[in-house]
Amino acid sequence: MSEANADYLTTKKNEYHEKYKNVLISLCVVTLSASMDAKELIRITTENLSLIYQVNDRNRLEQIYFGKNIGNMSEFEKVSLPAYPAYSTYGTNHVFEAALRVTHADGNTSTELMYTGHQIVQEDPGRVHTIISLKDEYYDLYTTLHFRAYPEEDILEQWVEIQNREKKNIVLSDFASSDLSFTAGKYFVTQFYGDWSEEMNMKEQELSPGMKVIDSKLGVRTHQYTHPCFLLGLEQPVQELSGEVIGGTLAWPGSFRFTFEVNNDGKLRVLSGINPYGSAYTLGKNETFTTPGFLFTYSKNGVQPVSQKFHRWARKYGIKNGDKDRDILLNNWEATYFDFDEEKLVRIIDDASQMGFELFLLDDGWFGNKHPRNGDTQGLGDWQTNREKLPNGIPFLINECKKRGLKFGIWVEPEMVNPKSELYEKHPDWVIAQPHRERTVQRNQLILDLSNPEVQKFVYDVVDRLLVENPGIDYVKWDCNRFVGNPGSSWLPADKQSHLWIDYSNALLKIMEKVSRKYPDVTFMACSGGGGRIDYGSMRHFDEYWISDNNDPLQRIFTQWGTQYFFPAIGLASHVSVSPNHISGRSTPLKYRFDVALAGKLGMDLQPSQMTEEEKVFSKNAIALYKEIRSTVLHGDLYRLLSPYESNRTAYMYVAQDKSEAIVFNFLVRKEIKSNTQTIYLQGLDPEQQYSVEEVNRVSSWSRSAAYKDKLFSGEYLMTVGMTFPMYNEYESVVLRIKTQE
Ligand code: DGJ
Repeated sequence: MSEANADYLTTKKNEYHEKYKNVLISLCVVTLSASMDAKELIRITTENLSLIYQVNDRNRLEQIYFGKNIGNMSEFEKVSLPAYPAYSTYGTNHVFEAALRVTHADGNTSTELMYTGHQIVQEDPGRVHTIISLKDEYYDLYTTLHFRAYPEEDILEQWVEIQNREKKNIVLSDFASSDLSFTAGKYFVTQFYGDWSEEMNMKEQELSPGMKVIDSKLGVRTHQYTHPCFLLGLEQPVQELSGEVIGGTLAWPGSFRFTFEVNNDGKLRVLSGINPYGSAYTLGKNETFTTPGFLFTYSKNGVQPVSQKFHRWARKYGIKNGDKDRDILLNNWEATYFDFDEEKLVRIIDDASQMGFELFLLDDGWFGNKHPRNGDTQGLGDWQTNREKLPNGIPFLINECKKRGLKFGIWVEPEMVNPKSELYEKHPDWVIAQPHRERTVQRNQLILDLSNPEVQKFVYDVVDRLLVENPGIDYVKWDCNRFVGNPGSSWLPADKQSHLWIDYSNALLKIMEKVSRKYPDVTFMACSGGGGRIDYGSMRHFDEYWISDNNDPLQRIFTQWGTQYFFPAIGLASHVSVSPNHISGRSTPLKYRFDVALAGKLGMDLQPSQMTEEEKVFSKNAIALYKEIRSTVLHGDLYRLLSPYESNRTAYMYVAQDKSEAIVFNFLVRKEIKSNTQTIYLQGLDPEQQYSVEEVNRVSSWSRSAAYKDKLFSGEYLMTVGMTFPMYNEYESVVLRIKTQE
């Protein structure tokens, strides 16, 4: 290198450090090449996190630091730190799980990635995109590590591109989105797991040497048995307000895998990505494989900031229309199931408008003529309005809603088909199935094969045509009620059958994106037999998500609690349904059911004509209250006060961004004869401000928190001395509205 060139590069490098330090918000690109003499350091940073890589003497990229944000990079050049592969590969001396495993065109199964350069792109607004280029030292295999930092929201997103420029096909067997290393004495992992109607439970365990895998193999729905997120506590179990915690989630609506491996030195590596299970991927010459994004954040003050950061990030970037309010809807599913006609629906719409709802959602059962959808055994796939039930079509219902000032929503399940349907009679080859095997149904249905472009077009058209032919649809509930059983495609060639899992999810994401782009103002709800599709891959195109078919408030306290570690209230549809609950059989007071639903995005799933006048009045008042408090619930910061896993009383609160209002929810699970008087220490208030405290959504004029009525308290008092008031009864709830004085 000439002296002039070396000077130029050194100057460039210094400029880059300066720029990076200040995280400028202008668009610029800085390119650095591997030919520099000095050992290269690459810092990826957000407000509280630094992830630092170095290029070692052998030109390998290594992670040397993950943790609290470090401003001064120069000290990293003074001593050597323990270094871990930034993106580990199979077939080297690395004897642990590999992020990347490739069989090259000539059969060689090893990969040795060398650093070739990197770029920092300052994206608008405020995002910093770091692109690190790697190449196999012998083969024309190019791997690019992408990191997008959202400095303000404190979130990092990593994904990887793998490009084959070899002469022939190569096969990818492992293809993680991220490969992170941690050094601590102890590691504690919290996983989120469950089943239909009891989703998002939490369990923590200490990692021991060896591997722990959290994965899903359901294909078309991310989870239900396991959810694509985890918490990692370093040194100690995850605490709410103390200790180092990492939160990670994969933005992918298909099977995922998180691998935690504690090695012989007690170091932990975490690989996150698509589940490679049965998914070997052949990459043709010049083809590129792009992994989904792995989103993560770091806190040194417990898990509370982890959730708040994800929520803030989601409202800005992760969820469609995350800055807007949501409508309060009445859904006819539990009210009628498949048994409805125009008259019945109009009566519900009428009641809905009188009770203050803003949207009526028509659920499953409105379609199919040759095979009417009067149950879940037939008609799925035949998206023509059922003439017997709805002789005047969807426009009639839209009009009935509009006349009463209500918006209209509709249910679809476009990726699925009943064998008893006109669609299946016409296209039996469009489904996911293996030859010579029984076509196994779940809920009497099969999955359409989205690897097939014709099927992709069909699925897009189902949604598009519905919206084009019925102007005035404001809301679409997009359901998905089964998972992949026998993963075969009549479209994919024999040697690419294993592409099905990945091609399906990529095609689905493209369809979702196309739909949400064309209909930015239509609200979309991601539903999957309850909580089967809550992931940040899908949520970019959806405004809401359905966390469970189980609306029993006691179950919901746990499901909503778990969901909100990563996903914000703005999208969390929470419905009041009938008592005894159809799924759990449990009887609970209407107030308890409402209070649990008020803590998310309020809706209702019951037949108003079966309510007493008193219940209707209570509901009307609760809906009116929600209209006043929803902006704090949906856009506020969440503070968890008492965990249902640790206490008979659960409490959490939302605080408006300007701290002028907070809504505090308290739920008691079991009766306490002598009363539960746990003090709740409020959080997130302005210590200097004076607040009034009012119990809202009461059943009588009497209030549990009467002692606080008509008085003012400083934020400091409420947070330091806290609030003490008794709760006695099973299924008792207290909602407090805390407000500054105008
Ligand atoms: C499952 C959903 O979760 C329910 O809310 C309902 O839409 C049914 N599917 C309809 O089949």
